[in-house]
This record gives sequence, C-alpha cells and structure tokens, in this order.
Amino acid sequence: MHYHFTTIDSTNTWAKQNVHLLSRNEITLVTADCQTAGRGRFKRKWESPPNQNIYASFCFFIDKAQQQYLGNIPQVLAISAVQVLEELGFQSRLKWPNDVQISNKKVAGILCETIPAVEGLCVIVGIGLNVNMPLDLLGKIDRPATSLLVEGEGVYDLQRVTALLQHYFTTNLNCLLTEGFKSFLDLYRYLVSTDQKIRFHDNLRVWEGFFHSIDSDGSLNLQLDSGEIRRFISGEILP
Ligand code: BTN
Repeated sequence: MHYHFTTIDSTNTWAKQNVHLLSRNEITLVTADCQTAGRGRFKRKWESPPNQNIYASFCFFIDKAQQQYLGNIPQVLAISAVQVLEELGFQSRLKWPNDVQISNKKVAGILCETIPAVEGLCVIVGIGLNVNMPLDLLGKIDRPATSLLVEGEGVYDLQRVTALLQHYFTTNLNCLLTEGFKSFLDLYRYLVSTDQKIRFHDNLRVWEGFFHSIDSDGSLNLQLDSGEIRRFISGEILP
C-alpha cells in the first residue's frame, strides 16, 4: 500500500493519525511532495520544501518478540539509505545512531515513532532525504546539511530514489526482524566513526568522553575519563 500526498503536515503525523488505514501484513509507504510541519528528532523542524526532497514514512506492525529490535529499525533504514546512495554513486557514512552524512554534512535524517497495537506495536519510521535541494535553501538549515544535487552531478528522479529506498528497506527490515541485528553489525560498525572524543546528550544530561565502540545491539559505548564505559541506547552526539 502506498499513500501519496502533494501536501501534508507530516507523513509521520498522518500515519500516526491513520493507523487504521495501515496494512497489517506489509509495509505501508506514506510519501509527500511537501510537508508543512515536517518534524525531526528532539522536536526540531525538518525543512520540507515542495518537489525537491524525499519525505517518506514506512509503517508496519511488529509483535512482542520483535520489539527487541525496535532501536535497530531506524539504524537499518539509515543503512538502506547508504546502500541507495552507493548505488547512485555516493559514498556516505553514518553519525550515530542514524544520521546519513556525505562529506560530514547531513543528507538524511530519520524519525522513528511507535503506537501501541494489539499484541505489539505499530512502527512509523520516517526519512527525509535531501535530493534536489539547492545550496541557498540548505543554508536555511541550522546545522551543516547537503543534498545529492550539491554533492553530485545534476538532478535526481525522486520516484526512482524512493523506489530504491523502498526496495532496500523492505529486504533489510525482513532480515532484521527474522535474523536480528547481527547481520548488519559489521557494516554498521564500518559506517559509524568511533575512536573520537565526543559530547553526548542522553535526553537527560550532557556527557563528555571517548566514543569507544558500537555494542553488539547497536548502542553507543562511551568511555568516561574515569575509565568506566557507559552504554547508551538513545541520544545524540552533539556538534
Ligand atoms: C532528524 O534527523 O531529526 C529526523 C528527520 C526526519 C524527517 C522525516 S521527513 C518524513 C517524516 N515526516 C516527518 O515529519 N519527519 C520524517
């Protein structure tokens, strides 16, 4: 099932408000040409001008046993975006947990939300991928950001890029939910740069330390000055 809107407040918000329209046994894709209230992580705004970028939400249901992989779902969508970009000729990397970057600038962001459902959860994982966004509009974003237009050669077909993303994510999600995150661990560890001093916000306070490693479940291991290693399953590395 695919719902497409020319204008919507936010594809994630629409999906959350219309769970009854989402398919129970396959991924429902919700896309829009433009979002009037695109949302990012930590209540930030997501710049969503018309007909330039991909605004897409992948919506599906998981059962109780699959909930152990919830935190890995946005990581696997980020890996899928990296694979799409590679197919288009771009080398990209990840900033933990799921920002996609080209040349250290953000090209895609992911927002994963859930709604309780019968014997499980409805997962709505949205991605904004800057495709044909020109430099002057990227300048409106308060953090270093880029697009395929700026990094590559010419304009990209949004429908083709969306179809590639749908293909990779569908395959990867199936693998995650049946085999677990171990299938992605080597690739994820390769794509995320560790071994550096970072400032980290865990939704409660700011930590300073050394990004020691990625744990086997995809979480971040931060080594404090005391030598202690703390594991974080969510949060943000500060700029
Ligand atoms: C972030 O990096 O802060 C996450 C950005 C997520 C943006 C996408 S665009 C499609 C979906 N709808 C939204 O309102 N947000 C996500």
